[in-house]
Amino acid sequence: MSKISCLIIESDQEAIRHIDILGRTIGSVEVRWKTNTLDTGIAIIKKHLPEMAIVGMGKNPDASIDAIAALSRDFPALFLLALSDKAESDLILRAMRAGAHDFLCKPVKEIDLRAAAEKVYKLKAARLDKKPEGGRIVSVFSNKGGNGTTTIAVNLADALVRYHGKKVAVVDLVLSHGDVTMFFNVNPSYSIIDLARNSQKADYDFLHTLLVRHSSGVYILADPPMIEDAELISPTQVREVLGTLRSMFDYIVVDTPHQFDERTLTALEMSDNILLVSLLNLPSLRNTQKCLELFGRIGLRDERVRLVISRFLPNDEIPRDSIEGILNCPVFFSVPNDYPAVIASVNRGKLLYETFPTKEVTKSFRDLSNLLALSIVPQQTAKPIKRGLLEKIFPPGRRTK
Ligand SMILES: Nc1ncnc2c1ncn2[C@@H]1O[C@H](COP(=O)(O)OP(=O)(O)OP(=O)(O)O)[C@@H](O)[C@H]1O
Ligand SMILES: [Mg+2]
Repeated sequence: MSKISCLIIESDQEAIRHIDILGRTIGSVEVRWKTNTLDTGIAIIKKHLPEMAIVGMGKNPDASIDAIAALSRDFPALFLLALSDKAESDLILRAMRAGAHDFLCKPVKEIDLRAAAEKVYKLKAARLDKKPEGGRIVSVFSNKGGNGTTTIAVNLADALVRYHGKKVAVVDLVLSHGDVTMFFNVNPSYSIIDLARNSQKADYDFLHTLLVRHSSGVYILADPPMIEDAELISPTQVREVLGTLRSMFDYIVVDTPHQFDERTLTALEMSDNILLVSLLNLPSLRNTQKCLELFGRIGLRDERVRLVISRFLPNDEIPRDSIEGILNCPVFFSVPNDYPAVIASVNRGKLLYETFPTKEVTKSFRDLSNLLALSIVPQQTAKPIKRGLLEKIFPPGRRTK
């Protein structure tokens, strides 16, 4: 059995050394990363995907409980252990309620670390035993143009293939003026119209020929060749197309239009994750706020919605922390600002990895793909959108069937 990779976030060096030795003794836990700050811990999780994290409760248990809650929320697949020198029932209860899977008391006993390792193995086995549920749909959405949704969709898809070996399709749902085929520099023979017309056919090989494969391994379902063809696709067909792709791919990344039409809402409703893209400036944040409010009204504001800041500059006038307060939504990820690299890649018809593999902006897509892989949201647990409100937004006369 492979060893469980473990991160320890703790300032007590003696405790770290002790767990390290215990891990070697029992042979199943390998302490690979040690840090005493949560920020560094999060950076390590994003980059290396540990299977287990031990979080020290330290002198400020409240901050540690918050940290456990944040880690449990953002990394549901991570096995979390709280570590304290006091086994007070109140503290244990709070840590478990915040999302810790177990509680360790210093000095950690061999039997307790062994029991934790057993739990991780059981969880891993349970995940492997689960029947394949079909692929995950990740929609990249912004209710404002030019925020970087297409850049994120295509480079994230590439990272999911490159670093996770997943089978990935990108769907261009910007039906009247999509950019995805241009970003990948591919010439498709077919488009979403052909898949919409044939999605009832069960012939897997035939359906595959309707997508074009890029050299990176990403498959692309193109937007219609002519602007006026966009109207030929109905919301029902969007549902059928995405449903069909779910059975063919591990991940379906959808580049979405910026309007709330029914086709877009259908895709968002079917998504396992919605990456809501915003910039760190007031007009963009205002729009994002309105969007989150609408998501709330139609029943779409839940843990699937993840806020992504695009073109992020560390010294921006509006600090990242204040955004979370204004929007009442945690920032899931920030893509660094690097206009020269991004535009040069697009103009050359290349992905960021193909042109600038070592740039920070390129590496950020590896981190984003890691984060997504860790933040598994149970499929289809979300309720359907409140259609009644939709009818008010799109009166039946204006709707395409
Ligand atoms: N991380 C980044 N750093 C700097 N510039 C970026 C970044 N991401 C995207 N851009 C630039 O922002 C502009 C918009 O990017 P992109 O086309 O990806 O956004 P979009 O939301 O899909 O736009 P549209 O509304 O046209 O569909 C482009 O000029 C692109 O080069
Ligand atoms: Mg776009």
